[in-house]
Amino acid sequence: MNDKIETLFTEDQIQARVETLAQQINTDYSERSLVLVSVLRGSIFFTTDLSRRIRLPLAMDFLSISSYGEGSEGVVRITKDLEENIAGKDVLLVEDIVDTGFTMRYLMRTLLSRNPRSLEICALLDRRARRIIDLDIKYVGFEIPDKFIVGYGLDYKQQFRNLPYIGIIQPDKLS
Ligand code: PRP
Repeated sequence: MNDKIETLFTEDQIQARVETLAQQINTDYSERSLVLVSVLRGSIFFTTDLSRRIRLPLAMDFLSISSYGEGSEGVVRITKDLEENIAGKDVLLVEDIVDTGFTMRYLMRTLLSRNPRSLEICALLDRRARRIIDLDIKYVGFEIPDKFIVGYGLDYKQQFRNLPYIGIIQPDKLS
């Protein structure tokens, strides 16, 4: 089935980019501590790889969200909230991909209301062609074309998340 997936970023390319992002974060937050907030489920691999390259005092927390279908104008809700209070903390939201931006707008608003010291976004993939909401994404791994993407946490019908690379899939070719 994997011959239906066209590689977009190899494992080595991803790891090199994650290393660069981690170095930027190490510099930007030097002498501080950080809370990484991982948005489940797609960001798990990115979060773990990034976190192991960050050389700062680091806490990790996890959020689950659900959004109501395509074209539902950004109706998002939290299904699993953070375990810890982020008031006064430097918080970095870690996402696998930003598309329309509805999810990130909701999460930024929700987390900002809890009065963190700072709140920024780190997204591995930015599919700008689908953006509806204007967002300031401080750390971006790669900009990607408007294609269906799988691997390194991203799924198609819950499959392919475990691929170590990122590829373009054409769902109509799978059946
Ligand atoms: C993806 C991604 C973001 C959201 C981005 O999650 O992880 O959370 O979509 O889309 P938006 O910018 O249009 O709001 P998905 O719903 O695929 O869930 P998953 O992480 O569990 O795969």
